[in-house]
Amino acid sequence: MCALTARRALVVGASRGLGLGLVARFLDRGWDVTATVRRPSAALSGLATDGRLRIEAGVDIDDDAAVTALRRTLADAPAFDLVFVVAGVATQAGTPAAAMPRAVATAVFQTNALSPIRFAEAFHARVAPDGLVVLMTSKLGSVSLNRGGGWSSYRASKAALNTLARSFAGQHAKAAWGVVLMHPGWVRTDLGGRRATLDVETSARGIVTVLERHLGQRGCVFLDHAGQTVPW
Ligand SMILES: NC(=O)c1ccc[n+]([C@@H]2O[C@H](COP(=O)([O-])OP(=O)(O)OC[C@H]3O[C@@H](n4cnc5c(N)ncnc54)[C@H](OP(=O)(O)O)[C@@H]3O)[C@@H](O)[C@H]2O)c1
Repeated sequence: MCALTARRALVVGASRGLGLGLVARFLDRGWDVTATVRRPSAALSGLATDGRLRIEAGVDIDDDAAVTALRRTLADAPAFDLVFVVAGVATQAGTPAAAMPRAVATAVFQTNALSPIRFAEAFHARVAPDGLVVLMTSKLGSVSLNRGGGWSSYRASKAALNTLARSFAGQHAKAAWGVVLMHPGWVRTDLGGRRATLDVETSARGIVTVLERHLGQRGCVFLDHAGQTVPW
């Protein structure tokens, strides 16, 4: 990749896990990265060695004022080739939705479904032509693949995200960018747990390869880290 025309990514939710791994991978691939966190992250700061990583703290995607403030802060920055909302939660994922406190289930839906779409609405005007809005979803959000249940509120929140993303893409059908719903595989993070089959580096490497290939494509697709289409 030519250093004079470095691609630019905005990675939202980069303190740890996949967001952190994606920032590392984008930097390795020569991208300029703006990464957001709720609270300062020493691991993320450790990646800021040569001026290609800008970190914005205090960005809770559930807080509309924080998202508006970020948009203002980045108003003069060049457009992004990728706006990638990675942040997500799996609070009390083992508890069936019907048995979970309403406030907990509501919070999961806020963070996993509503907030990423509100972020996308707030930032799509900052996406460069031929760029992508990318939302981290999960295969668990596939309605047609749901045979065994489990993680019911998390599944439903990602299914809601997928539906909201298709609506978002439809509402912006004439836009010069596309929408990708990305399943990262089952990855060893705080959320994915120790038994997960992939490490962060492998997943992040796959995701960045898939997204680099997908730049310039329109519409709304559901892909995994290997570039395979996931059924809705
Ligand atoms: N790991 C897997 O196997 C797997 C599989 C499918 C999909 N995913 C999805 O991949 C994404 C990243 O997951 P992960 O495995 O990396 O999880 P993780 O290690 O638990 O990291 C979650 C990240 O999301 C951030 N976050 C949570 N709520 C936020 C909010 N309201 N505002 C801003 N940031 C927030 C966290 O920030 P703090 O440090 O401030 O809490 C952290 O950076 C999620 O959307 C998850 O659903 C993961």
